[in-house]
Amino acid sequence: MEPLEVLVYPHPALRRGGQTVTAFDQDLRALAAKMMESMYDEIGCGLAAPQVGIEQKLLVLNPSGDKSKREEELALVNPRILKKKGREWDDEGCLSFPGIRAEVERHVDITVVYQDLDGKEQSLKASGFLARVIQHEMDHLEGVLMVDRLSAADKLRVRGKLEELEQRYARS
Ligand code: CO
Repeated sequence: MEPLEVLVYPHPALRRGGQTVTAFDQDLRALAAKMMESMYDEIGCGLAAPQVGIEQKLLVLNPSGDKSKREEELALVNPRILKKKGREWDDEGCLSFPGIRAEVERHVDITVVYQDLDGKEQSLKASGFLARVIQHEMDHLEGVLMVDRLSAADKLRVRGKLEELEQRYARS
């Protein structure tokens, strides 16, 4: 199985987001499985389809980031947040922003409705870190990136690193 390439900022595909998934077939399951492997390979705990250049509303995650804890794996298709409560700032990273970590404000408690890989409607209540990962990955489905949500101070702090990524992309 050839690994998927995780696109790095400022690759334009990251801004395209994803379209609603309508085909719940073997291809979708295979894509989710490949994304999960790429996520573990890159030492991440979430990955959204636009990050591998695929414009679909599909995301995978494992809050433990631990390949041996398969029971914590989730694949969410066409997710939307039904309820949200509270807000808190906490540290985040993103596989599309190597070397950058910064605080982002997210809802503390969410209820998300989504379809599983078979197209079945599901509902999930999540809090804290899991809720944070889901919100981060859902942003990718809209072409929104963590750097869009930084405090003014953090925007200034990471500017040099973003410029490095921009230069690296320009040379690639
Ligand atoms: Co990300």
